[in-house]
Amino acid sequence: MKVVLGVSGSIAAVKAPFIVRRLKEKGFEVKVVLSEKAKRFVTPLSLSIFSGNEILDDDKYFSPDITHELHLQLEQWGDLLVVAPASANFLAKCSVGLADDLLTVLALSWNKRKIFFPAMHSSMWKAYRVRKAVAELREEGVIVCDPKEGALAVGTGVGRMAEPEEIVDTISSICQGRWKGKRVIVTAGATREPIDPVRFITNRSSGKMGLAIAEALALQGAEVLFIHGVGVHSNNLENKIEVATTKEMLSVLLNSIDKFDPSVLFMAAAPVDYAPEYRKEKIKKTQKLLTLELTRNPDIIMEIKSRYPNLKVVGFAAESSDIIENACTKLLEKGIEIIVANDISRKDIGFTTDYNEVTVITEKGNRFFIPKTTKKEVAYKIVNIAFEYFFN
Ligand SMILES: Cc1cc2nc3c(=O)[nH]c(=O)nc-3n(C[C@H](O)[C@H](O)[C@H](O)COP(=O)(O)O)c2cc1C
Repeated sequence: MKVVLGVSGSIAAVKAPFIVRRLKEKGFEVKVVLSEKAKRFVTPLSLSIFSGNEILDDDKYFSPDITHELHLQLEQWGDLLVVAPASANFLAKCSVGLADDLLTVLALSWNKRKIFFPAMHSSMWKAYRVRKAVAELREEGVIVCDPKEGALAVGTGVGRMAEPEEIVDTISSICQGRWKGKRVIVTAGATREPIDPVRFITNRSSGKMGLAIAEALALQGAEVLFIHGVGVHSNNLENKIEVATTKEMLSVLLNSIDKFDPSVLFMAAAPVDYAPEYRKEKIKKTQKLLTLELTRNPDIIMEIKSRYPNLKVVGFAAESSDIIENACTKLLEKGIEIIVANDISRKDIGFTTDYNEVTVITEKGNRFFIPKTTKKEVAYKIVNIAFEYFFN
């Protein structure tokens, strides 16, 4: 799990090195972003020593040497943005979308989970504008953890940031997350239908979207069984089975559903629809015209839904025209609960790229458009939508 820790200008910034150390002890990777005011309270040196990474600040962000925008790089890298301490100034800027330094640009553009730990004098914490900012951020889905009552820089009251141990425990339990205790099967990648000992029919699915879904679920505590086509690799998942043909994927799935008893199936794989009759000998290059006869493969989702009608299924529709209409038809035909529609005619998203843009459609007719972003982020959003739909 990779955490970007933002530190803003509060006296509680002195606790930041200990938050970093504790996160590292718990196995998190950490990169620190400091606001300019935070540097008045804590030294970049101590934070870089504890994090083992160079500290990122406005000097680096606005440097002429930079080749890629730093906030985009950080967003690609991290799984979670934690801001501790979060100053009143930082919260106010975030609530109205002000982005005048690296930390606020990052907070504004960050599409994954955000957790803020405010710290300030009680007179500030109680101020109308701060209350409003916190309420708005929470409404938007940001986790804002209330500060504690205790000794402040001056006097006592509510506004003291929690101790590093408590902050890291909160982060850990949030990360272990909402999918904890849920068993989920995710399929990914293309199947292969052999023609002869050297040739096969397949499709362009790389398996990246399914892999991102499986990793997002595992990150949030789900027990994941990953069933994938040849050539899809993950170092972050333990429980995985590689399959070749569509029929093999179906039989492994049926077997696994019985044994693993999942509550949700994310069917992100692209099974090949038609298979030729397998020839044991390599076909020689003698004929001018070679005809292959293809037989339709079983429809995996239909087969599964007919046997396990109560299993919640998220399907994927890779469409090249009338995207939403075709996806809705597929959702109804297959009797599944959610379908994720994407446009495979575009070169910048979908097959083989690291980016996607999708619309998530539920059987009740809700639609969620996820604009173009990395597959990792799209996956994070899809699993959140699925969780809300199935379990809340
Ligand atoms: C000694 C001192 C302590 C401060 N402590 C806090 C604090 O705990 N919380 C807070 O919101 N602001 C605090 N401030 C005010 C912030 O540092 C100020 O609003 C600053 O502009 C925040 O910048 P940043 O949000 O870009 O980091 C403090 C200022 C000083 C001089």
